[in-house]
Amino acid sequence: MKLKFSLLTALSAALLAAGCSTSPRSSQYDPETEKKIENLLGQMTLEEKIGQTNQLSCYFVPEEMAQVLRSGAVGSVLNALTPEVANQLQRYAVEESRLGIPIIISRDVIHGYKTVFPIPLGQAATFDPELVEQGARAAAVEATAAGIRWTFSPMLDIARDPRWGRIAEGSGEDPYLTTVMGAAMTRGYQGNGIGDPTCMAACAKHFVGYGAAEGGRDYNSTNIPERLLRNVYLPPFEESVRNCGAMTVMTSFNDNDGVPSTANSWLLKQVLRDEWGFDGMVVTDWNSAGELIAHGFAADEADAARLSLTAGVDMDMMSHTYFNHIADLIRDGKVSEKQLDDAVRNILRLKFRLGLFDNPYVDPELSTRVNYCEEHLAAARRCALESAVLLQNENRVLPFDPSKIKRLLVTGPLADAPYEQMGTWTFDGEASHTVTPLAALRETYGDRIQIDYEPVLAYSRDTATPAELAALTARAARADAVLVVVGEEAILSGEAHCLGDLNLQGSQRELMAAARRSGKPVATIIMAGRPLTIAEDLKNTDALLYAFHPGTMGGPALVDLLFGVASPSGKTPVTFPMVVGQIPIHYNHNMTGRPAAGTETLLKDTPVGAGQTSLGCTSFLLDAGFHPLYPFGYGLSYTTFEYDEIALDKQEYAADDTIRVSFRLSNTGDRDATEVAQLYVRDLVGSITRPVKELKAFARIDLKAGESRRVEFELPVGQLAFWGLDMQKRVEPGAFQLWVAGDSNSGEPIPFNVK
Ligand code: BGC
Repeated sequence: MKLKFSLLTALSAALLAAGCSTSPRSSQYDPETEKKIENLLGQMTLEEKIGQTNQLSCYFVPEEMAQVLRSGAVGSVLNALTPEVANQLQRYAVEESRLGIPIIISRDVIHGYKTVFPIPLGQAATFDPELVEQGARAAAVEATAAGIRWTFSPMLDIARDPRWGRIAEGSGEDPYLTTVMGAAMTRGYQGNGIGDPTCMAACAKHFVGYGAAEGGRDYNSTNIPERLLRNVYLPPFEESVRNCGAMTVMTSFNDNDGVPSTANSWLLKQVLRDEWGFDGMVVTDWNSAGELIAHGFAADEADAARLSLTAGVDMDMMSHTYFNHIADLIRDGKVSEKQLDDAVRNILRLKFRLGLFDNPYVDPELSTRVNYCEEHLAAARRCALESAVLLQNENRVLPFDPSKIKRLLVTGPLADAPYEQMGTWTFDGEASHTVTPLAALRETYGDRIQIDYEPVLAYSRDTATPAELAALTARAARADAVLVVVGEEAILSGEAHCLGDLNLQGSQRELMAAARRSGKPVATIIMAGRPLTIAEDLKNTDALLYAFHPGTMGGPALVDLLFGVASPSGKTPVTFPMVVGQIPIHYNHNMTGRPAAGTETLLKDTPVGAGQTSLGCTSFLLDAGFHPLYPFGYGLSYTTFEYDEIALDKQEYAADDTIRVSFRLSNTGDRDATEVAQLYVRDLVGSITRPVKELKAFARIDLKAGESRRVEFELPVGQLAFWGLDMQKRVEPGAFQLWVAGDSNSGEPIPFNVK
């Protein structure tokens, strides 16, 4: 049987386009809605218009909220916590304000509402956009039942620096993977769009470049030239907005090349509105209008409001600068009422599209039926299962054979840490509903295996004494196998939680070493919000499963992998550095004039008095070489896969052709498993230097033990286009190479030409 994977019609990229066509685009002006907007706008006072642009966090002192809502002084409320509160707030706005305009209730529903899915970086590791879409759908169904109709997700920031804590919230380092996953989330949140009561408006954020914060420190400046912005950082936003109809966009905190995004009219007007035709709504990040003052870009609050509104920001999140200053700015002729009207139109359009004017209320009973329902838990479990990446499996220690293990020692601070395994941004997920690896082990194997539990460390930064470690070694020696679960607590990644040292915290390395000294088979799970520098730790374990914080159902999913109910299929969505000093390190870097050749002399072999050029004059670090610990797209399985008979249908293609790459994929081991096949391309000569490789397609392929299958990728030549020297996006004719492989560092190049 032949499987076909096309960029436009099958899994992966394919889903991107196919799914998007069923989802409503935001740029669909509906004449009826536009009439209603104009009619309403015509009745609004200046104060009521300004009120619409004002987003407040819910401080539920009923009298105060009632007052602001009745007076029409607020257009959106963040963080209303229950359906009852949501309904109450809507009643004030709809039934007790002069024009009865509903508010839109928003919240950071980032990787699940009650049922928490793996953090977005983990979801990206699944390379399974269909499943990611299901996750976003589950989040929307649960959140809208609580009255939340707008989430601040997906985060589409490309992150190539794991020191940056928010790497956890995105899809990693690759523009294509981020584009596919962002599109899947956008579709999932917005469901059937206009008229669907479970449609939760997506918010493509943070627009733009935020993930390139200098030094990995959050909120820091970025310096991304326009061409790089267009080739790497903008594509996920363009896809989400243009083809998937993301209803809103959030500006980022950073200044890029000296211009804070919240005041960047080139970005918000020329790119977003004029080039992409966005007719949705733009919101600031939390107080990012006010922070124009701290940036030294605005002189005072009034100036900040003027700059943001003029740049094209419709709604102000929490700086109050719009509310406090727009009236004066209009009176003084510094902004026009038309500018305000345009912002209000975009806000009202969003409310009409969400159907809030028809029914602003939620059934307070609905939550109890949808939260943590079987379907959501099953999807979260599958997502956690597919997101775990097997990085090492010496002596084929995994999967554990339950018939051979009588006693299993479980240790480490994250083996039974329900809150921590949910990861960053889980305002609403509950530890009491979260199943840890320890709980799942006891539940599933407790009747057959003696589960011995000694965490040694209470949390990841905790330390242990030599005596405690020795006791652990002794205890491990009495078991048949050891499971160590270490990593990062939730608070160590996410917003503002950046690190300069990416080694395991506290005494976790020592704990792994202590387990290793027992001489028993050791399997380790690392739960974290980022790739950590774990080169040294690999010596202290036979097997290593890397689980980006896996969420509510992380425990059962990981236990299924440990015992071989399923084989791991996750792949690294980001390069794992050997040491922090290699950062930034990503697979799709440009070709340098002196690429490392592998013949360089490293520090350990450098003789005293070595001649200046004797070590190699290439791009490498004396002490850390140039290889990462694990490349992008990497992950082992309990079986082995082979790629062969890779062939292109032609040698030379025209610009409007589609490249057909077929290959045979074989499961050469003894277990059924899934492989993520990846297609990479390199443009050998360009008007600008090009990446050494770029992911262009991928597909998850299930194969039974011993099974072989022919697979085909279809890659439209148009997908090779990039913004070149003349700042035009086009395919530049010439020679290319293509790889089909199981990661970004494998396979042999196949040449082809574009004429
Ligand atoms: C974050 C955003 C988030 C917003 C609202 C900000 O601090 O940067 O990502 O959506 O807060 O909570």
